[in-house]
Amino acid sequence: MIKLGVNVDHVATVRETRGISEPDPVAAAVLAELAGADGITVHLREDRRHIRERDVRLLKETIKTRLNLELALAPEILDFALEIKPYAATFVPEKREELTTEGGLDVISHRLKLEPVIRNFKEAGIIVSLFIDPDLDQIEAAAAIGAQFIEIHTGRYCDAKSEKEEKKEFTLIDHACISAANFGLRINAGHGLNYRNVAPVAKLPGIEELNIGHSIIAHSIYVGLERAVREMKALLS
Ligand code: PXP
Repeated sequence: MIKLGVNVDHVATVRETRGISEPDPVAAAVLAELAGADGITVHLREDRRHIRERDVRLLKETIKTRLNLELALAPEILDFALEIKPYAATFVPEKREELTTEGGLDVISHRLKLEPVIRNFKEAGIIVSLFIDPDLDQIEAAAAIGAQFIEIHTGRYCDAKSEKEEKKEFTLIDHACISAANFGLRINAGHGLNYRNVAPVAKLPGIEELNIGHSIIAHSIYVGLERAVREMKALLS
């Protein structure tokens, strides 16, 4: 069955609005695991707008599943990740002014920077994934520089304004999965997935894990986190 990685960034977002210690993304991660999450994902952004180093350290010590750390190519974050050694590192593009990650990483133009970083992370025993758009040239570049996984950016599929556009974006994701598999890449996907749009993506062959944050944390406000995770897991099966 396809795995569910729960992104708990937005628990930290709520905490940061008050600058106090609650709600705690570490407690949320434990509850998500009890409800069946197969992994926990967090993004340590350069501006620390939600997740902080303390969270990543405690998550690494506490969770029983797998920690996937999202990060950009910022030297101090890279050093921190190499010290913590999460199960997996997913490289994402990052802009300070964005509300959330906008678009995939441009592997082709960042190839020279990415290549040695990927080598270091792999040598440290960290699985390397690149968050990219469903674009065949980017997939080829990801394979060429030694990434083990790609995470296909599903944002444009999720944000589609018409059925026609949704179908077009879905086809791109489908083709991206076929191409990635042909290059020997393992595949995750995520961004913007929710209880209404997740099922077709979960059915695509080759995808191992979906990383989902906002919709689960939003739903948990109404039904509680454990139920929100269980309902998402049920849609994946
Ligand atoms: N995957 C990546 C690489 C992301 O940056 C994010 C957002 O932090 C997600 C998945 C989860 O996206 P969402 O919160 O829209 O489910």
